[in-house]
Amino acid sequence: MKALKLIGPFKQLVTMANLPLKGALTDDQLTIIEDAGILIENEQIKEIGLFTVMLSEAKQTEIEVIALQGNHVCLPGFIDSHTHICFGGTRAKDYAMRNAGKTYLEIAKAGGGIWDTVTQTRKAASEELIKKTLKRTKQHLKNGVTTIEVKSGYGLSVEEELKMLRAIKNANSQTPLDLIPTCLAAHMKPKDFSGSNAEYLNEISTTLFPILKEEKLTNRMDAFIEESAFSKEDIRPYFKKAKEIGFDITVHADQFSTDGSAIAVEFEAISADHLEASTKNEIELLAKSNVIATALPGASLGLGCNFTPARKLLDAGCALAIASDHNPGSAPMGDLLTQAAILQTFEKLSNAEVLAGITFRAAAALNLNDRGQLKEGLLADFALFHTDNYNEILYHQGAFKPCMVFKNGALVYDKHQTN
Ligand code: NIG
Ligand code: FE
Repeated sequence: MKALKLIGPFKQLVTMANLPLKGALTDDQLTIIEDAGILIENEQIKEIGLFTVMLSEAKQTEIEVIALQGNHVCLPGFIDSHTHICFGGTRAKDYAMRNAGKTYLEIAKAGGGIWDTVTQTRKAASEELIKKTLKRTKQHLKNGVTTIEVKSGYGLSVEEELKMLRAIKNANSQTPLDLIPTCLAAHMKPKDFSGSNAEYLNEISTTLFPILKEEKLTNRMDAFIEESAFSKEDIRPYFKKAKEIGFDITVHADQFSTDGSAIAVEFEAISADHLEASTKNEIELLAKSNVIATALPGASLGLGCNFTPARKLLDAGCALAIASDHNPGSAPMGDLLTQAAILQTFEKLSNAEVLAGITFRAAAALNLNDRGQLKEGLLADFALFHTDNYNEILYHQGAFKPCMVFKNGALVYDKHQTN
């Protein structure tokens, strides 16, 4: 294989570069290069320029050329910064009960809720979890996603959380996508743990944290701050310990009640995710901080409840990422582009704000600075759409899928689309 590879021409290449991390964006702030080419060296972008010029230079050197036919728009590979795609079983029954008007308590009493998935995930062998995670990963790849965060949190004991995080690590070694693992042992106190919330969290932090570091299973720690899960008093010693050991913090915050975002700001979390219940106070607090605010429209669609106030967050000056929250309970769809497009119409977001939310702002939500934009030195991760205008992509509300996806400079998905 030649070390250098030239791909193009792209009718439009939307770089997503030179944009602020925080605050509102308009489409005229986007840098769009017409008739562009990308020169790739190994896994990275070496140069972006005019394809015809790059092609004539390529003819004089040892460069492999991938010449595209027809119109293509090139965007950075999408980044889904919040998912729970490693799980066993299904919660279709919860979904039907919820839509039939049953309450959270009634569903839990009928054996549903997070604990149901914990039971089904514990029953699953590692091989099965790996297989299912890979299958869901493939579904995301077809939507143009090249980096996907995957949480544990359906194990809820030292051994079962290890099983999940080892399965995620194994799945990562079998897919061209990057799976970014996160420990969510603080999803809820397991029903078979007889002690208090504090005792459970203490056991996890003293026993599990050192193994996670030793086996390099994750460098991210998440917690669900909610009345049905953990309070801010419960979580403070846990996050303190996590930070001391060097984990990045992320929080399931303000989904139904509002303590989570304050905890995220207090612990300088990388991101605070959900925020459907955030009010002016929480929005202002987040805007003053460096915490990335992550909207999860898939959870609003799955639960049939209001969206994260994305417009208000952006106007207050927050950095807004958008993620799928793909999980068996509240967000079974797992289609980031569709969900981001739907959030756009309800929250009145510009194309630039939506695309930023699933590219470079989502990279920031994972503390990654090597992707999310198309520019020299970053990973050659990009999605191609068969059109001459990037506006067509969100306009079709997710039904318009990429025709090709490149990860680390390699073609990893090709739809053979001809129109
Ligand atoms: O992000 N909110 C808590 N956790 C998940 C739901 C997980 C589940 O219901 O299985 C979420 O929506
Ligand atoms: Fe979640």
